[in-house]
Amino acid sequence: MGDYVEVSSVSELPDGVMKKVSMEGKQVLLARVGNDYYAADNLCPHLRGSLSEGRLEGTVVTCPRHGSQFDLKDGHVVRWTEWSGIKQSLARTFKSPRPIKTYEVKVEGDKILVEKPE
Ligand code: FES
Repeated sequence: MGDYVEVSSVSELPDGVMKKVSMEGKQVLLARVGNDYYAADNLCPHLRGSLSEGRLEGTVVTCPRHGSQFDLKDGHVVRWTEWSGIKQSLARTFKSPRPIKTYEVKVEGDKILVEKPE
């Protein structure tokens, strides 16, 4: 198990909310769904939209730029852009779907800690 970094506090992150935090100079999205906490890369693998400025529904985050969706449980792609037809095909050809990297999160008292990337 790796080292953890304190990134926020439980009292600063209400249920259903996500925010951008900094971990060792890296932008990380931190989200709370009920009493579960998730952390993932904040930048969308499509064209680097800021995912924390998008929408959170359950554990699925929607990118504010072109609507790609990722599940924060493991980072897998739920939808690659909100486009359809030829535009979707071109988007996939130009940049193939890629998941977001997720990180382990633990809570100690009021502290939210995220595992440092290797
Ligand atoms: S930058 Fe996120 S969907 Fe395009």
